[in-house]
Amino acid sequence: MKSFHDLITERRSIRRYTSEPVDSDDVRLILEAALMAPTSKSTRSWKFVCIDSPDILARLADCKPAGAVSLQSCPLAIVVTADPMQSDPWIEDASIAATYMQLQAADLGLGTCWVQIHGRQTADGTPSDEFVTSLLGMPETLPVLCIITIGHPAEQRKPQNLEKLTWESVHIGGWHPEQAE
Ligand SMILES: Cc1cc2nc3c(=O)[nH]c(=O)nc-3n(C[C@H](O)[C@H](O)[C@H](O)COP(=O)(O)O)c2cc1C
Repeated sequence: MKSFHDLITERRSIRRYTSEPVDSDDVRLILEAALMAPTSKSTRSWKFVCIDSPDILARLADCKPAGAVSLQSCPLAIVVTADPMQSDPWIEDASIAATYMQLQAADLGLGTCWVQIHGRQTADGTPSDEFVTSLLGMPETLPVLCIITIGHPAEQRKPQNLEKLTWESVHIGGWHPEQAE
């Protein structure tokens, strides 16, 4: 088993997938990870919509004109939303759950990519979250944060380069203005 440090060093966004489906046991583990993610006040207000229909995946790929390429080949996509009426930090709750799923998938040898939906628009200017909720018949009151695409990688990405980490982002013992220049 990989160490956690090796896992996060090797995880990279994968945007091209083989046609091999994701094993149902793996899907379950990925969803378990989401459902174990911490949430503000333990509201667990998230909802996850799993899509494996090639027809619906192809239509989801029109959710925005750029940055949705991973939806064109993934065998599985999980739409991540949370209810702002239940949890004011819904974006944080949903983001952590999405990240948990990405890390669990990486641990299973699967590739993932985050497709941002919140704040994005389709080619004709429709808000991307309205496009997704309408396509999937979801309540309009649920804002979609992102879609996590998942599958067996059809591309190889280099691991993170530890030599290139932006250590200038870290301020030890207080704010150091010279680092921000
Ligand atoms: C909030 C967020 C939004 C992102 N949106 C997209 C997106 O819409 N499309 C995409 O292909 N990748 C998206 N990504 C993936 C980033 O482009 C990727 O994580 C970044 O380039 C670093 O590459 P790595 O994940 O391989 O380390 C997003 C990532 C985050 C955290």
